[in-house]
Amino acid sequence: MTRRVLLLASLAVGCATEPSKRPGVGVDTDAQDDTGSAQDTGEQVIPWTQPELLGPEVASDLDPDPTTVQVALTPEPVDFFIDDWRTRNRIEVAGARYNGALPAPLIRASVGDRIVADLDNRLGTPTTIHWHGLAVPFEMDGVAWMGAPVASGDTFRYEYTVQKAGTYWYHPHFDTAAQVDRGLYGVLVVDDPDEPAFDRELVLVLDDWREDQSMPVDASHVHGAHGAEGLWTVNGLVQPKVELTAGERVRVRLLNASNQGYVQLVGTDDWPLVVIARDQGRLPEPETVDREVLAPGDRVELVWSPGADTPDSALEDAPFSLHGGAALGDPEPLLDRIVVGEADAVDALADWPVAPRSASPDPGYTDIHYTFQGSTHTDDWMINGERFPDVTVESVPFGEELVVQVRNVSATHHPFHLHGLHLEVLSRDGVAPEQFTDEDTVDIGLYETIRFRTTADNVGWWMAHCHILPHGDDGMMTVLEVTE
Ligand code: C2O
Ligand code: CU
Ligand code: CU
Repeated sequence: MTRRVLLLASLAVGCATEPSKRPGVGVDTDAQDDTGSAQDTGEQVIPWTQPELLGPEVASDLDPDPTTVQVALTPEPVDFFIDDWRTRNRIEVAGARYNGALPAPLIRASVGDRIVADLDNRLGTPTTIHWHGLAVPFEMDGVAWMGAPVASGDTFRYEYTVQKAGTYWYHPHFDTAAQVDRGLYGVLVVDDPDEPAFDRELVLVLDDWREDQSMPVDASHVHGAHGAEGLWTVNGLVQPKVELTAGERVRVRLLNASNQGYVQLVGTDDWPLVVIARDQGRLPEPETVDREVLAPGDRVELVWSPGADTPDSALEDAPFSLHGGAALGDPEPLLDRIVVGEADAVDALADWPVAPRSASPDPGYTDIHYTFQGSTHTDDWMINGERFPDVTVESVPFGEELVVQVRNVSATHHPFHLHGLHLEVLSRDGVAPEQFTDEDTVDIGLYETIRFRTTADNVGWWMAHCHILPHGDDGMMTVLEVTE
């Protein structure tokens, strides 16, 4: 693919740099030499101005029944650009999108709703959809274990009910590292109608892009000091800006959809990180933290409530080393927050439900041990010395309470993710969390041991794997079976 970059910044006119958002984009499944819609009409003038935060667009609900959310999801190859207005650098992506959108359409449902999602595979290669964080029936989990993926040209209907409020997401679970990396991911929000409403809600999907995005992913060469691949985007845009009104209460749902990059959000006195929910929904009590690490696949919900005297400030990502210890470098801005209006800040959580709950006591035994091992030098990644699919399937009966211990004996972090069930954190290196913590994706630090409690309340063969997706594809994945 050739690089055609026009440095015509002085002519700050024409369409936005936002990649390929125009209608009709994404049907050119055959054209390798067509570098995307932004250039279909010949040469394009790139304005190189800071974009406004956009999206994700909400998926249209095709079923009039108020308790069913029916969506159509069509993944297709799309070539697009990631334009860095700050450096005038452009990354070409031989990508893929659901319904032409990056991120994919936001699926929005309420607790108890039925989701019907029709996959129409036009990718040119097999795919599936996995519903990350949702306890769906096994046949709906989108994995290719004990079943085949959906061939290109075929369709598949995913159907399940959503039980628990939270911020979840969906992505392929076949050739996962490559397909997610190309841009196939979207957020699924399950609302709790009893929660107090905010004035505004933002959904921010973080991803990072490499200079040579179209080259195969080589995990050994991209674990930089930041644990990042490169250029971070929010909803597909490099450092966009958003105007917030003073006095407004904003709920912010963040997803790290990168297939291997870590984000470390930084709180400040003016813009504290007030966390109300993580992977599996609302925390018993909100927490204010200095830093929040989002490993690949992680979600967090924050509350922003600026007043007229809150200074404008970027949401920043501090360097984070996947190999432990300090990471050098300045924090990078992800999103500029601009406050307009004259009102004072309000207490955004005045009527927020608080239900203190402490971590469960550790029963002291262990049912299942997972040891994460491997090396960036050889790029061999294993759990218990085995590489998927040649793994020992641990079976547990339905209804059992289990203690799972995950130990990382490698010199790099790994986000541990379990399908079908959810994980209460009992302890990290022997220290219990300050409050009850319900997760599905948990970062395991170097040589760290984390103990979890889970209830085997969903029958199926559940994948347990590293969500640094090239590690998972390389074998750092196993199966936990819950029998009838
Ligand atoms: Cu987000 Cu096994 O997946
Ligand atoms: Cu998952
Ligand atoms: Cu890993």
